[in-house]
Amino acid sequence: MAKPTSRFVQYLTPEQEDELRQIANAIVAPGKGILAADESVGTMGKRLQNINLENSEDNRRKYRELLFTADSAVASSISGVILFDETFRQSTADGRPFVQVLKDQGIIPGIKVDKGVVPLAGSLNECTTQGLDGLAERCAEYKKGGCGFAKWRCVLKISEFTPSYQAMIENANVLARYASICQQNGLVPIVEPEVLPDGDHDLETAQRVTEQVLAFQYKALADHNIFLEGTLLKPNMVTAGQGCTKKYTAADIAKATVTALNRTVPAAVAGITFLSGGQSEEDATLNLNAINQYAGRKPWPLTFSYGRALQASVLKAWGGKDENVKAGQQELLSRASANGAAAVGKYGGSSGSAAGGDSLFVANHAY
Ligand code: 13P
Repeated sequence: MAKPTSRFVQYLTPEQEDELRQIANAIVAPGKGILAADESVGTMGKRLQNINLENSEDNRRKYRELLFTADSAVASSISGVILFDETFRQSTADGRPFVQVLKDQGIIPGIKVDKGVVPLAGSLNECTTQGLDGLAERCAEYKKGGCGFAKWRCVLKISEFTPSYQAMIENANVLARYASICQQNGLVPIVEPEVLPDGDHDLETAQRVTEQVLAFQYKALADHNIFLEGTLLKPNMVTAGQGCTKKYTAADIAKATVTALNRTVPAAVAGITFLSGGQSEEDATLNLNAINQYAGRKPWPLTFSYGRALQASVLKAWGGKDENVKAGQQELLSRASANGAAAVGKYGGSSGSAAGGDSLFVANHAY
């Protein structure tokens, strides 16, 4: 091997960097965000069970067809959709591949590439996320099949003694390895270190923990030479624990969230796409709006990548019935528009959705 001329090795070409930067910027274009429709078979089963529908492959396909063929106006607020592997391979009833259906609307298909959370031995009930084996090959296939970005979710838990050093360093590193493999294969990595809302901790505790977790995260991304301009961060908003009795306003949440991000996330990062994390649909929209209205420094676009908060009303209105497909699609359009407005701080108030104020909290949420 030739003697290296520098201790710094460029792992992406300028062309690869440009492509990643363009995809990331398109996803966080003003007033746009992501629909997370990447529920695993098990998680989708729980959603379908709520409307008394069997968790069959065809019912999952039908539901995703409803989402992806809703009004074409959805594309003015949704720039990307995250798919699950099964969904990536499915088509509409009349045979059009979902990936193509999305691309035809100018929506970028994305893909969940992790293989789920697993226990971290020797910790107090903490987790890491598996799925690095064979990841490069899978990313290459997804890229070839039309995807532009990927998602990997890690979870961190707040309790008296957690998150531990072990959990923070392990999850930050596995996300960095995933990000590197994605970038080498032309996929923008969404880096998702979710601090769960389980617990009775206050807002200040959530902020401190989020800052610590993100500090570990950006050290690991730097250690792995990640091209930050070609990445997106998918964090939790900083909210008090579900069981906290003290109440906070959207403005309190916005201040805590933007402060935590300013202290830890480099300005080079292309954008921040929050998860909804069990907030009601209305809260997720109001809090995103408050974050964008917050009068502090905000060097990145701040938008949404919601699963539950974009789908709860859709599922309720649809109820598994063919005659309600249009009603479900209407709910998606209305949630998407509301969140698109919130992503630029222009949400005007209640959009009256079917599941508007319902809590979507799931204890110890798996995806
Ligand atoms: P929620 O918005 O339901 O928290 O999920 C978003 C997501 O993709 C989690 O990985």
